[in-house]
Amino acid sequence: MALDKEDLHSLIKQRISSFQSTSEMEEIGKLTYLGDGIARATGLENVMSGELLEFEDGTIGMAQNLERKDVGIVIFGEYFNIRVGETVRRTGHIMEVPVGDALIGRVVDALGNPVDGQGPIKTSKKRPVENEAPGVMDRQPVEEPLQTGIKAIDSLVPIGRGQRELIIGDRKTGKTTIAMDTILNQRGKDVICIYVAIGQKESSVRNMTETLKKYRALDYTIVVSASASNPAPMLYIAPYVATAIAEEFMHEGKHVLIVYDDLSKQAAAYREMSLLLKRPPGREAYPGDIFYLHSRLLERSAKLSDALGGGSITSLPIVETQAGDISAYIPTNVISITDGQIFLESELFFSGIRPAISAGLSVSRVGGSAQTKAMKKVSGTLRLDLATFRELEAFTQFGSDLDASTQQRLNRGHRTVEVLKQGLHQVMPMEEQVIILYALTKGFLDVVPVRDIPRFESELMTNLHFAVPHVIEEIVTTKKLTDEVEVELFAAIKAFASGFIPHSL
Ligand SMILES: Nc1ncnc2c1ncn2[C@@H]1O[C@H](COP(=O)(O)OP(=O)(O)OP(=O)(O)O)[C@@H](O)[C@H]1O
Ligand SMILES: [Mg+2]
Repeated sequence: MALDKEDLHSLIKQRISSFQSTSEMEEIGKLTYLGDGIARATGLENVMSGELLEFEDGTIGMAQNLERKDVGIVIFGEYFNIRVGETVRRTGHIMEVPVGDALIGRVVDALGNPVDGQGPIKTSKKRPVENEAPGVMDRQPVEEPLQTGIKAIDSLVPIGRGQRELIIGDRKTGKTTIAMDTILNQRGKDVICIYVAIGQKESSVRNMTETLKKYRALDYTIVVSASASNPAPMLYIAPYVATAIAEEFMHEGKHVLIVYDDLSKQAAAYREMSLLLKRPPGREAYPGDIFYLHSRLLERSAKLSDALGGGSITSLPIVETQAGDISAYIPTNVISITDGQIFLESELFFSGIRPAISAGLSVSRVGGSAQTKAMKKVSGTLRLDLATFRELEAFTQFGSDLDASTQQRLNRGHRTVEVLKQGLHQVMPMEEQVIILYALTKGFLDVVPVRDIPRFESELMTNLHFAVPHVIEEIVTTKKLTDEVEVELFAAIKAFASGFIPHSL
């Protein structure tokens, strides 16, 4: 039968209109393998990498390895009710989490679901969990301080809004405490805090939340918890989820501080996931893209340009080292991604120097420009003083014959170390830090016995708040230590010091 042109035309038209796309959303796969938070399924030919999938019981998973025969899926949540042979459905969506003001003061799991028994979170806003980091032109330099309230940090390794500063050290060296105290110090400073607990005990997270409540810090803090009992995929995704929550605030022009406690556990969870997904292991059995795991996360911290509202995300990632080895795989990776590190030493911690910050190995590559003028003025020589003190101390252990200037430097060093000690949750405002560091550098503490220094410090503050409140006020408002203010401050400290009676002579 011969077809004329018209017939052919209508035939094609008809075929096109009745064409059914094979890539439609209702694609169903069949589970062929299940184990440790990982599943494999066949029949999901058109699934996208990172697409959300739904199991029969409503649990969600994410498509990861797209292979010729099947698809590797990581399961978010409990997988006890899922069976091999059951179906899994494509959703056509990527992963999103609830965001917005309603989350403030809440404790949520790695998917943004509330776990604090305070009812549902009332917000309609959502953001994708994975998001591109702001580009070069969308950023501006870090210039505004983020006060930690910890003397040794604000003076030696200052942190600015939008900065990424790593807290690194062995287990039990006070890493979490530094991050927590920094959160406590944000009270009244217009900074929203997010604490991400990764692979920690439920009881630790609970204690942490109680501490936040006790110091009235939960009013401006969100806790995201993927505890040790959660499957590996939850630990893997938690930091990205928390960052998505932070981004919403940053794009509203607000300032956010986010603590990832800790990324070593996230990396270990990712390694577990990757090995189960049968990805080829590399150094220390981590998969090849382990650097990207952390770089794509930390690049999302930024200080946005004024055109974009000027909001910021400051991040404090935490990494645990083994026996102080900062040259292991994960530590070197994260050190190279961040803008500096606060290195905590067990030796210092156990000798009672807490926070156990190593002055030699800790740096802040951008924070200096964010330091207040007053703090800059009093802390200029501190790092060098401490470094020479450490050398001298080691050197002079062998002999007792010291010349006067060496003795003087040792004296000052011991007092500097003492002044930089700070108890648990005892954060100190900028102006008081400036005052005590000023007293130290002007030599007022040289005649005070080391054991009396804490008392000297607290009595000095009480005294000055009473005697020269306008001087303190001036430092608070101008953030400077002008010559006139300095003269008054000097006189006030001198008057106090001359009447100070040491107990331990
Ligand atoms: N500045 C400090 N003054 C007194 N005690 C402190 C100080 N910092 C930390 N500690 C105490 O030291 C212990 C360990 O602190 P923390 O939990 O912060 O360490 P970590 O390095 O986070 O430990 P982990 O390896 O378990 O995560 C805690 O009991 C804490 O109370
Ligand atoms: Mg800790």
